[in-house]
Amino acid sequence: MKQEKIKKAVREGYAKIAKKEASCCSPVKSCCGGDNPSESISKSIGYTDEELKGVPEGANLGLGCGNPVALASLKQGEIVLDLGSGPGLDCFLAANKVGKTGKVVGVDMTPEMIEKARENARKGKYGNVEFRLGEIENLPVADNFVNAVISNCVINLVPDKERVFRETFRVLKPGGRLMISDLVLLKELPDFIKNSVEAYIGCLSGAIMKDDYLNAIKAAGFREVKIIDETSFPIELMASDSTAKALIEEMKIPMEKLKDVARSVVSIKVQGIKPE
Ligand SMILES: C[S@@+](CC[C@H](N)C(=O)[O-])C[C@H]1O[C@@H](n2cnc3c(N)ncnc32)[C@H](O)[C@@H]1O
Repeated sequence: MKQEKIKKAVREGYAKIAKKEASCCSPVKSCCGGDNPSESISKSIGYTDEELKGVPEGANLGLGCGNPVALASLKQGEIVLDLGSGPGLDCFLAANKVGKTGKVVGVDMTPEMIEKARENARKGKYGNVEFRLGEIENLPVADNFVNAVISNCVINLVPDKERVFRETFRVLKPGGRLMISDLVLLKELPDFIKNSVEAYIGCLSGAIMKDDYLNAIKAAGFREVKIIDETSFPIELMASDSTAKALIEEMKIPMEKLKDVARSVVSIKVQGIKPE
């Protein structure tokens, strides 16, 4: 698939997800989870009850694959950037940590997600969070502006990952840090998954090998690049995921083959530091 075609499909896919949640309270499609209620997906990937209760309703669509804020050691007064902020869950959690003297900026390329996130900020009366429409390969953020960059299950969706890490490096202050949750591969995916648009939107086909991912972060200039945590892709969630369902029903993929795919994918939390 060509890069522009992929991005169009990703934008359209997430626009639908944003609108679906807005119109009713049925279970939403999850990127890395399933058609389970968002809250149980989020708890299974590391959010606490307290965190989930402390954000505006509608900010959690169960789209993440980890909890990057929990490991980012955010302090009062810091400026934080969230790459691919979606409906804003991690931005609101970060905002609770940096307080009124700090600031959080969320960037997302899907207008419907930005609209939803802004509505959530208004509902929750968050004065220290701002959502900007834009691509994370061309960040609408000044050089050396932020203390920390977080991201949750987004970079796998971007065809040019090296560029995202270069942009992230540019906007971080010297000494600033990167803390990302994302999906990476331990083994190459079979062609039937690689060529599936559904599986791309579902955060599978765009994932790259773990070492390539880490090397892309290092190549951008980051130091102390290391994996803080690594967990397997939950097969129970995948089995009920609409991405998997589409593959099973439309492409007649046997469950056994999908289990094999699940064993190829892991969720990592990775950090990097921009040198002083
Ligand atoms: C799986 S969702 C994760 C949303 C959010 N991080 C969360 O955990 O709820 C992926 C989000 O990334 C956005 N996205 C994907 N590719 C992007 C890009 N190149 N630039 C900006 N946003 C992007 C999508 O619009 C979508 O909102």
